[in-house]
Amino acid sequence: MNKRTFLKSAATLASTAFIPSFGWALSKNKKLRTAHIGVGGMGGEDLKAFASHKSVDIVALCDVDSNALNAAKVIHPKARTFSDYRLLLNEIGDQIDAVVVSTPDHTHAPASLMAMDLGKAVYCQKPLTHHISEARKMAKLAKKNKLITQMGIQVHSFYDYKLATLLIQSGIIGKVNCVRAWSPKNWGYDGLSPKSFDPIPSNLDWNLWLGTAKNHKYKEGVYHPGNWRKLIDFGCGTLGDMGVHIFDTPYNALALDVPKTIKNECRLPNGFGFPEKNKVTYIFSSTEYTTSELKWVWYDGVGAPAVHDDLILPNNDNLHDQGAMFMGEKGRLYLPHFQKLPQLIMDGEYHQIDIEKFGLGIPVRNYELESKKHYHEFVDSCLGNARCSAPFSYASKLTETILLGVIAGRFPGKTLHWDNISSKFLEEEANKFINGTYRNF
Ligand SMILES: NC(=O)c1ccc[n+]([C@@H]2O[C@H](COP(=O)([O-])OP(=O)(O)OC[C@H]3O[C@@H](n4cnc5c(N)ncnc54)[C@H](O)[C@@H]3O)[C@@H](O)[C@H]2O)c1
Repeated sequence: MNKRTFLKSAATLASTAFIPSFGWALSKNKKLRTAHIGVGGMGGEDLKAFASHKSVDIVALCDVDSNALNAAKVIHPKARTFSDYRLLLNEIGDQIDAVVVSTPDHTHAPASLMAMDLGKAVYCQKPLTHHISEARKMAKLAKKNKLITQMGIQVHSFYDYKLATLLIQSGIIGKVNCVRAWSPKNWGYDGLSPKSFDPIPSNLDWNLWLGTAKNHKYKEGVYHPGNWRKLIDFGCGTLGDMGVHIFDTPYNALALDVPKTIKNECRLPNGFGFPEKNKVTYIFSSTEYTTSELKWVWYDGVGAPAVHDDLILPNNDNLHDQGAMFMGEKGRLYLPHFQKLPQLIMDGEYHQIDIEKFGLGIPVRNYELESKKHYHEFVDSCLGNARCSAPFSYASKLTETILLGVIAGRFPGKTLHWDNISSKFLEEEANKFINGTYRNF
């Protein structure tokens, strides 16, 4: 099916079978019928978490890798299987209420937008999209069609992050002037693009895997599975991977909008992989929880973070390998990533926090139990019994912020100025990276 036929048939279906998911959700004693696009890797975890909700009926599975698809089918034998999400939505769109998108980043928006056009609720993995324009489109369509949506940042619903948000908003360290966040993970690639190619494995539909992205010849171990993260045509580097999780709490707690300026200190672009080390500095306008401006510094890659006075812990304790530090007028709040309590530091010493008064109960340390909350929140929202905490209206802004840092990596050391209203950079040369282009497939 070419793109024109695909869009036409999607539009026809949309006009004849539009049933807003939230409308369906109001009918009692029904199960939420879900379709899962991408069922290997994180998609397998997503599937498990959805299946653990008693009011979910897994109706369809889709994957371009038949090994992943067959493995999921063994667990859900009644589900219909597809390799092309366009066929899934066209053929059985009227039999599903919600779509879960767990593909590589470049396919998030094309698959989600088609589902949203059909009035489906969508749970989409993080980062919401590969391009800024796609994130804006998804938020707009969700609003227009009044859809229930959630981005897959499950730690958003974890105890320690909720507590940190409440602590910051309670003013425990006063107004915040700076956040430093870090991950030593390396989802970049400083090498050259492959010079030789491999036969496409029989279990993989490479054309569908590429989807709307630029054509690349298949090379074992370079793209699928997982390593697409390192590559500019498919992923968003370490910032788009770990950054979304670690940025989420400060972003939420400080009620930030998109930044005014962005600078990425990294190597020169090579047209293939993301830089293996990045230091990204953002400046945000003030909010009720910040001083007149907020500076935000992100460090990634081997050895991150760089040594800084703000990151020295009492008793010379070692800094956790990933995390965030909030600097405020009265002290610092340290939030290790993840499943660790936030710690209050004042005058160079740890201070006890009275966590009971925040009403979250006792800390939960069971990962599976904790992570289910975020998925179940989405299902319960579709059933009319809850409200999503990371809907696309929120996720699109967080993603836009992340992607601005990714684009700044194309201009190492240069400060870019972002205009939130026109959705453009002051620096004309950066504007061509906002949209991206879609390949017909
Ligand atoms: N929230 C989290 O904690 C978390 C953790 C890991 C990954 N993720 C996110 O999940 C997504 C997938 O990451 P991953 O590590 O599982 O990647 P992966 O490459 O390991 O798996 C992706 C799966 O999607 C399938 N796929 C690819 N293109 C497809 C298409 N067009 N249609 C249907 N299926 C397709 C692949 O065959 C594979 O089974 C990414 O967006 C990633 O950022 C989130």
